[in-house]
Amino acid sequence: MSDAAEPPRPTFAETLSQLLTTRSFGKPLHFFSTIDSTNVYAARLAREGASAGTVVIADEQTGGKGRLGRSWISPPGVNLYLSLILRPPVTTAVAPQLNLLAAVAVADAILEVSSLTPSIKWPNDVLVDGKKVCGILAEMQTGAGVLQSVVLGIGVNVNAPLSAFPPELHDKASSLFLVGGCMLDRAAFTAALLTHLEKFYVLWLEQGFLAIRPAWERHAAALIGRDITVAAPEGTIAGVVLGLDSDGALLLQERNDGMPRRVLAGDVTVIGGYARGEQS
Ligand code: BTN
Repeated sequence: MSDAAEPPRPTFAETLSQLLTTRSFGKPLHFFSTIDSTNVYAARLAREGASAGTVVIADEQTGGKGRLGRSWISPPGVNLYLSLILRPPVTTAVAPQLNLLAAVAVADAILEVSSLTPSIKWPNDVLVDGKKVCGILAEMQTGAGVLQSVVLGIGVNVNAPLSAFPPELHDKASSLFLVGGCMLDRAAFTAALLTHLEKFYVLWLEQGFLAIRPAWERHAAALIGRDITVAAPEGTIAGVVLGLDSDGALLLQERNDGMPRRVLAGDVTVIGGYARGEQS
């Protein structure tokens, strides 16, 4: 036994900074033990001129934002809540493709650090065993109708226990720990995620969405050919999934008339469940 005190364990932010081999993503990195929403903070930084690649991460969110005005459950110490500032030279019509790109990066990061098989549910939910483990919320900052920046918010349920989810979500949402049975290193997962994000972002800037589509379709193979309904802004659409159009729109063969149909936004429900026999 030695009297010497144990050296303090490196914090999540210190470990992540050491692991990061990206060129600009995560540089700089703003880390908070608790915050209302990393997206809200990152949007403020973006408006104040923060550079592309700036990342905001929190250990806990008290007002985590989900899609369609929903909230995002953000308990402390177990998950990843990350917002990345980007300044792509594209129009506001093209920027939503970043949602799909981010889903591919999350799926690749899960494959890299675990033995799990992720699936993407259009546009950008990442599921494992039919349950949602990741949500993505891209928010645009514009000035005079021109895109100034995008805050790409990513929430991944990494090590959350079942008690973190309300009972009504138990058949819909989960964590990588709950589906895989082992705790994952959050810093290693985050480093892998930022690496994949940067790689796909550079590819997208150089070659456009067509270069991302094959990876997206590979991760969404379980969706292709399935019967779905989409709660779209224009109403509910039912059909069979044909794939993804060159701009990221979902291509359906509509159930009513058998005609091909492009869907630009909405919430997908897979008939019979995403993983067969389960709810989605
Ligand atoms: C969804 O509803 O599926 C999207 C959820 C997005 C949650 C993330 S967590 C990090 C970032 N900060 C937020 O407030 N929301 C996003």
